[in-house]
Amino acid sequence: MNTGMALPASGAAGPDPGELCRLAEAAAHEAGELLLRGLVGGALAISTKSSARDLVTDLDRASEALIVRRLLAARPDDGVLAEETGEQPGPSGLRWIVDPLDGTGNYLRGTPMYAVSVAAEWWGEPVLGVVYDPSRRETFTAVRGSGAYLNGTPLSVSRRTALGEALLGTGFSRDPRIRTEQATTLGRLVNLVQDIRHSGSAALDLCWVAAGRLDVYYEADLRQWDRAAGELIAAEAGARVCGPHGGPATDDLVLAGPPALVEDLRAVLAHDETRTAS
Ligand code: IPD
Ligand code: CA
Ligand code: CA
Repeated sequence: MNTGMALPASGAAGPDPGELCRLAEAAAHEAGELLLRGLVGGALAISTKSSARDLVTDLDRASEALIVRRLLAARPDDGVLAEETGEQPGPSGLRWIVDPLDGTGNYLRGTPMYAVSVAAEWWGEPVLGVVYDPSRRETFTAVRGSGAYLNGTPLSVSRRTALGEALLGTGFSRDPRIRTEQATTLGRLVNLVQDIRHSGSAALDLCWVAAGRLDVYYEADLRQWDRAAGELIAAEAGARVCGPHGGPATDDLVLAGPPALVEDLRAVLAHDETRTAS
């Protein structure tokens, strides 16, 4: 992969993004293999977090511990934001953002639609994203300014430009109020697009936009670890990635896809008085 980019200005020379990406890939691969072994290793210990819909298994925690240990062993001064253990500050200017298992609901049913997601920011600017899908042995990578890749092959987004021909991906919040609003919005969208998919893994949805497997995607009420790596991968594959009003994507709303589709979808969402719009 060509990674001859300069990291964003910080006052200090930054680390080599290619090396960072290889480190993230190695950690994600190790964690993915751990997840695969966990599926054949007997009953998973499952508990809930924010609500009965918010599940965590012992494998989420084991995967996170492995990734964080691997990253910090190589780069002890970095910060980490990881889903299960939260923020761990570090002085280097580099911050890793880790979702050790995106798609837990699929994973614990043996549905092969889950991934490990690792992103890095340099002084707050996204610099790389790695999403590993262990079931398909697919590794999505992007370094800022150097394109997006699937197992080393360059990716580009769908060429479709008409919403009526688009396969739309989305997901549901765990908050009952937001879910009800999302259902209303989908009731309108279902006849405006070709079809709708709900995969249960936001990280893979964004990568599948990068690969043109989904034409366009939006989701409300995500967290940084769900979306950081996938957003960079989608953007590097040519997607417009944005949030409400066309500004940067936020936890409240992420849209990703070819620019024409994103603009049309944004116009539809803006008509709905939901948290996902205005
Ligand atoms: C979830 C998945 C899902 C999205 C949820 C996320 P988790 O992550 O990305 O697709 O709809 O909002 O929380 O809990 O499986 O890591
Ligand atoms: Ca997640
Ligand atoms: Ca997770």
